[in-house]
Amino acid sequence: MAETQSARERQLTLLDVLARKPEAAAPSKAAPDEGPAGIVEINIMGKRYEVPEGLTIMKAMEYSGYSFVRGCGCRGGFCGACATVYRMPGDYRLKVGLACQTVVEDGMYLTQIPFYPANKAVYDVAETPPTLGSLLVNYPELARCLGCNTCTKVCPQDLQVMEFMAAAMRGDIARVAVMSFDCLMCGLCASRCPAETVQYNISILARRLYGRHIAPPAKHLADRLTELDRGDYVAEVDGLTGAPTAEIKKLYDARDIEEEAD
Ligand code: FES
Repeated sequence: MAETQSARERQLTLLDVLARKPEAAAPSKAAPDEGPAGIVEINIMGKRYEVPEGLTIMKAMEYSGYSFVRGCGCRGGFCGACATVYRMPGDYRLKVGLACQTVVEDGMYLTQIPFYPANKAVYDVAETPPTLGSLLVNYPELARCLGCNTCTKVCPQDLQVMEFMAAAMRGDIARVAVMSFDCLMCGLCASRCPAETVQYNISILARRLYGRHIAPPAKHLADRLTELDRGDYVAEVDGLTGAPTAEIKKLYDARDIEEEAD
C-alpha cells in the first residue's frame, strides 16, 4: 500500500463534508469534550489520523490516503490478504484482525502484515502418500511444536490451530483437513509461532492429500468430465461466447444456485 501525497488534504476535505452534513456521519459515542462527534483517532504505522468511527481498518486506511496495491483481495473476509496487528492504549497485548473485517477503535495503533515470509515446500500431491511421513519430509519443523497454543489465540478465523497441528503430528490427515478447512492463509499463526512452524502451509498440504487420496471421488464430477470430453457443451459454450453482454447478464441473474450445505 502507498500513501498518496494528498492524504491530509483529502482527510480535511472529507472532514469538512462531515461537518456540513452531520446526518451523514456515523452515530457518536464521544462526549462533547472528547473531540468532534463520530471521529476516532488511530495510528497507522506510527502516524496519527482522525477517521469516522464505524469504519473497518481497511476503509479507515483508505480514508487516510492509503491505497492498497497489496494486502487486499476480497474485502469480505475470505482471501486472508489483509492480516493486521494492533495494540490498544494501556494494554500490553498485541491484537490481530483482518483489516477488512475489524472496526477501528479510538487509540488503535496498527500496521498491516500483508505478506509473511514462510517455508513453503514443493511437492507432487499425486506422488505424496497421505501419511505423517509426508508431512514431516516436507515440513520437518512440525515436530518442533511446543503446544503453546499461540497459533490458536492469534487466528482471526477462530480455528483450533494447535489442535489440528496435534492431529498432524499423529498423522491424522483427515482431521487436519476438516479442522483447517476455513483457513484463509493469512499467515498470522506463523508470525507468532515460537517453533517457527508454518501451520497454514502444513494444513493446506493435509487438505490436498485428503482431497487426492482419502476423500471418496465425486461421482457427479466424474460424470461431468465425461460429458465435457464427449463435447456435450460445445454448442452451448459457442452460443455464450458470441452472445451480447446484456443477454449474458440476464442468464447469469437467472442461473440456478445450489443450496448451501449444512
Ligand atoms: S481483503 Fe480478503 S480477507 Fe480481508
